[in-house]
Amino acid sequence: MSDKAPRYASWTTGKLPLPELQEMKRRGEKIVMVTAYDAPSGRLADAASVDLILVGDSSGMVMHGRESTVPVTLDEILFMTQWVTRGAKRPIVVADMPFGSYETSNEQAIGNAVRLVKEGGADAVKLERSGTSVARAKAIVDAGIPVMGHIGLTPQTATVLGGFKAQGRTADRAKELIRDALELQAAGCFAIVLEAVPEAVARAATNALAVPTIGIGAGAATDGQVLVWHDMLGYSDGHAPRFVKRYAEIGDAIVDALGRYAEDVRSGTFPEAQHTYAMPAEELETFERA
Ligand code: KIV
Repeated sequence: MSDKAPRYASWTTGKLPLPELQEMKRRGEKIVMVTAYDAPSGRLADAASVDLILVGDSSGMVMHGRESTVPVTLDEILFMTQWVTRGAKRPIVVADMPFGSYETSNEQAIGNAVRLVKEGGADAVKLERSGTSVARAKAIVDAGIPVMGHIGLTPQTATVLGGFKAQGRTADRAKELIRDALELQAAGCFAIVLEAVPEAVARAATNALAVPTIGIGAGAATDGQVLVWHDMLGYSDGHAPRFVKRYAEIGDAIVDALGRYAEDVRSGTFPEAQHTYAMPAEELETFERA
């Protein structure tokens, strides 16, 4: 058996087994994660062989035009998770727990995580922060649902952090972040997102943890990377954070296509014969006589 062959099988046909992520870390194989919010994007991410799909609350900003992720609701994430899981078969689909869906109590957190898995079809859930989130993560894991942690810049509490800015830039905050990561691992998280932290901090966390780290704006030392669909494909309005690399300019391609469509409609060159339906000749004759 090659060193790269999956060690684990999944009960779900074709699904990447969750324990494989830790094996990938062990083998030094990078983990690829991207956000997706509907069936076509789930299908395309699957076709591109990504390992993990995040149904992120970033949807509130890149899809719904909001200023922050705070107003995103559980029902929104639930619907999007249903759509994504219809399109994506192999990747592990992680549903984001939106702000207000897990803070109140372990019972609230478990109840909402169960909905995302049972009604949404998610394979796992993600929640932000350390502190009380450590107990929530443990409660959800104990209920049988895999949990991904998320520390560093946590957009749901950006106001407390002083805005959308890098975290862990002092020695003390960096040490706190490593401690938080270890606590989330001890709570049973299968992976931890590190957002907008210095590379040195991400490297230290990655070395300290047995579970994989997934970085976004955290440098190259993490076990995997995640980017937001609209940002990486050039499909968002406004400017993307500096850590985003744009792999396409889909927005420009769409404006160009819509412009050519508008021109064709206005000039009468669309639709052509191949875009229209014909009638059997005798039916047409009867119709015209009538
Ligand atoms: O909601 C989201 O897309 C996220 C990623 C930025 C990690 O949480």
